[in-house]
Amino acid sequence: MKILFVCLGNICRSPIADGVMRNLVAKHNLNWQIDSAGTSNYHINEAPDKRAQKISKKYGVDISDLRGRQFSSIDFDEFDYIFAMDASNYQNILKLARNQQDINKVELFLNRLEPGMNRGVQDPWYDDALFEPVFKEIEKTCELILRDLSPKTT
Ligand code: 4NP
Repeated sequence: MKILFVCLGNICRSPIADGVMRNLVAKHNLNWQIDSAGTSNYHINEAPDKRAQKISKKYGVDISDLRGRQFSSIDFDEFDYIFAMDASNYQNILKLARNQQDINKVELFLNRLEPGMNRGVQDPWYDDALFEPVFKEIEKTCELILRDLSPKTT
């Protein structure tokens, strides 16, 4: 399984999801590939925002080694699932889709938590107080994604 999380800058929301999911995957001994990217080129090669690093560390997730990169159409070939953190990211990813198969890989992240609600993870960039609720929401949703995509043991 190969999963990609995509936000705008790849320094706040998607690196948090990336780190949380890497931890979950390791805990469950799953050999999954997890990555994240941004639709913009604003923060290429940058470490995650200090506030994102801090809130992640508080909950046992080290994202300090992650580096920003920009989403590209090659990612449609690399990944099975592409989760957009908000509606604007979703639209920008779809603009790069080359065919229906690419389109089918893209989902709005929070629809795994609240099916059909089409809600985006709030951008915490301009509001320090959002990092805690954003982290919690991302963690809850990643747990659901792991559960839904895990091999079923009956
Ligand atoms: P992210 O947050 O998309 O969750 O990484 C942002 C980071 C940077 C900017 C906007 C959002 N920015 O405008 O630079």
